[in-house]
Order: sequence, then structure tokens, then C-alpha cells
Amino acid sequence: MIITVDGPSGSGKGTLCQLLAAKLGYHLLDSGALYRLTALAITRAGVSLGDESAVAAVARELAVVFNVSAQEQSVILQGADVSAEIRREEVGMLASQVAAMPLVRAALLQRQRAFVESPGLVADGRDMGTVVFPEAEVKVFLTASSEERAKRRFLQLQERQVQGKGESPNMAVILADIEDRDARDRSRAASPLVPATDALQIDSSTMPIDAVLAEVLVQVSQRLASLESGLT
Ligand code: DC
Repeated sequence: MIITVDGPSGSGKGTLCQLLAAKLGYHLLDSGALYRLTALAITRAGVSLGDESAVAAVARELAVVFNVSAQEQSVILQGADVSAEIRREEVGMLASQVAAMPLVRAALLQRQRAFVESPGLVADGRDMGTVVFPEAEVKVFLTASSEERAKRRFLQLQERQVQGKGESPNMAVILADIEDRDARDRSRAASPLVPATDALQIDSSTMPIDAVLAEVLVQVSQRLASLESGLT
């Protein structure tokens, strides 16, 4: 069973995928982390964004380990924990540029498909249902207005600031960054952010995450029941 969840950043995809994977006992693929890791690795290696082949080579050779436990997911790159570092705004912006490169997307394709494992996979990204797992049994496209997504990001950053882990966030800058990144993700030629034709589309702007989870779980149960009864 493969469940794909695609959508823009801040739509609640990450939270939904974690809840789905925990509830169903499935594995989790955070494909955005692979693009973020590539962005971090090229910065460290001093590879220029202008050299697409070299960026793709870095993506192909990423020495990464995902450690998943019930409490948290940590990401280890070349032996060091980079979980917090890959979530930084600059890494996200660079990841969006790296993700527009067809050679990088091709380099990461098999690595993403290798995450499929019994009893099932929840795959979080932008092109999970369209390109990476077009055969997925359940596809979700989760959206929310850019204002609502900026508000969620602002609250997250504010919480981090209170814990002494970051600078004071600026709502206007966050909204502009979100709109910039969305435009790039939606308009790129290689695997743009678009809903699969057979995706269940959900707008989470005014929906609590539990309600989104419940709606997707209904879809999953119906799909499992039809697979068990031999229908497709
Ligand atoms: O979901 P995220 O914010 O961690 O993703 C980081 C960037 O990578 C974002 O700009 C979109 C891009 N991305 C992508 O192009 N395809 C994916 N499957 C996942 C992420």
C-alpha cells in the first residue's frame, strides 16, 4: 500500500504524513529532506548551482541515514546529525532551486522508490503521486492559502525563538518567501507541483489536522477493503 501526500510547504503535509504512518504502522518517506540534504551538501562541498551535473552527482552520492522512532525522525549526513540544519530557511530556498534541476530529480528517483517496504509507505512531497509513485493506491493533494501557511510558519519560528533557537520572525518576509517558493515549485518544467488527476484534494486552511487525518483514513479503509475483496 502506498499513500502519497503532495502539496505546498506549510499545508500540513509533514504532520499528516507522520500521523498517518504512526496510525497505520507504515514507513515514511520525507522526500523534501532529500532535496534539502542535496542543498546542504553542495554548500559544504562548494559546488556551484550553475553546474547541474555536479549538483546531481552530489544528490546521487548522498551518504544519508534516516533514523525514525516513535518520538522523532533524525537525519544523519556523513555521520553527523543535520536534522535541525536542513530545516533552516536558506537551506529550504536553495533546495527549491536544486529541485528544479531535471538531473537532480532523476538522480533521486530510485532512492525514493527504494523506500517502498511492507506493510506500506506514506510518501510526502510535491511529485509523489504524479512521478515517483504514479501507481499509489491512495493519493492526497493537500493545500492551504498562502496567508494561512505563512501564519503557521510564523508561529513555528516564534516558538523556536522562545526556546532560544532562532531570530525573531517577520511575517511579511515569510509570506514573500512562501509565495516565491510556491511559484518556483509550480512553474518548473521538471515535475511541477500539480495534483495527480486521481488525487483527493483537501484544503486545510480552516480544517484541524485531525479532521484531515480522519478524511484520509476513510479513503485508506475504502481502498484496503476494495483490494481485499479483489476489486481495484
Ligand atoms: O517539503 P520541503 O519544504 O522540505 O521541500 C524542500 C524543497 O524541495 C521545496 O522547495 C520543494 C522541493 N521538493 C520537490 O521539488 N519535490 C519533492 N518531492 C519534495 C520537495
